[in-house]
Amino acid sequence: MRVLAIETSCDETGVAILEGSSFADSFSFTVLGEALLSQAELHRDYGGVYPTLAKREHEKNLPTILAEALKKAGMKEPADVDAIIVTSGPGLEPALWTGITFAQDLAKKWKKPLFASNHMEGHFVASLVQDGLLSGISFPILALLVSGGHSEFIRVDDWFRYSIVGQTLDDAVGECFDKVARMLGLQYPGGPEISRLAKHARDSDLPQSTAALPRPMIHTDNCDISFSGLKTAALYALRDMGGIETLSENDKAAFAREFEDSVAEVFVHKARRALVETGASMFALGGGVAANKHLREVLADTITKDFPDVEIRVPDPSLTGDNAVMIAQAALLHFLIGDWKLDRPHADIKANGNLSLEPSDI
Ligand code: KG4
Ligand code: ZN
Repeated sequence: MRVLAIETSCDETGVAILEGSSFADSFSFTVLGEALLSQAELHRDYGGVYPTLAKREHEKNLPTILAEALKKAGMKEPADVDAIIVTSGPGLEPALWTGITFAQDLAKKWKKPLFASNHMEGHFVASLVQDGLLSGISFPILALLVSGGHSEFIRVDDWFRYSIVGQTLDDAVGECFDKVARMLGLQYPGGPEISRLAKHARDSDLPQSTAALPRPMIHTDNCDISFSGLKTAALYALRDMGGIETLSENDKAAFAREFEDSVAEVFVHKARRALVETGASMFALGGGVAANKHLREVLADTITKDFPDVEIRVPDPSLTGDNAVMIAQAALLHFLIGDWKLDRPHADIKANGNLSLEPSDI
């Protein structure tokens, strides 16, 4: 079957047309056409995503992005798809509404059923897919979803059966990367910038930063995490070092490495605990921060060493950030396992900024 998915939850405008099929316990997804436009550059002056600007840009760009995806798929309007899918949350509400309204108009015009999809579920499913194939899955799966809005450990007992094992009590890790990057005078989005500096510090074997950042909640008796204290600690540490104007590029790189080490150590500890708690047979890392090479590496090293029977899945690097392919993959999976029916489209779709990946939301 074929779907066309629309993603506008944050600052990426994405449209993707995918074909999906299933055989035994495996599912395959083929991208027929995809177009993705990042607004990151426009939000740079604000140091983060500015919702009104995101909404305006989605509105402006959606028709062009749709046309581009259709062209790549060799399709004309109305597209030869069975359903239209739109992200309804979590995300920035004005941005989500733009996609929802656009999808509703399109569904009406093309006379296609419309379905609402969960953004985090998209990140989760995309983390399991390898070269377009979703196979070899054994439950329970422990998913660590890390993005600009979420940081959560989720136990997945079967397709679409989720329970939260631990989560951030305040900021998301991606937001923390972005804020600390801003303190260092780096541009938005800060995750890739910090990563680049930290890599330089590691590759060049720079001396340890004079700042020693905390590893928040590392020894607490649960799988929850917290990043607001780390953010404040970074602010004070930079001030105590005399402000960023006084720091050399190498000082900044060493600081970025210390920050990345702090985040990674916390996730490694909590992942270990969550794996013991859930007895998971697979570990999936998803979301924008899953692009972080150091985090991927230290998690993989720890799990391979301490939990040799646990299979690790990480998304294709091109699918870690927000995109419509992952939204289409998750929706196709719903159809292929018979959970969604084409003749039962979702009615009354609303944007929900606060959605998480819990059973009640699906
Ligand atoms: O999933 P995503 O694209 O959007 C949301 O759903 O939030 O995640 C965006 C976040 C941003 O905070 C960005 O700085 C972070 O992912 N990010 C990274 C890296 N690449 C993107 N964080 C750390 N290291 C990276 N390489
Ligand atoms: Zn995301």
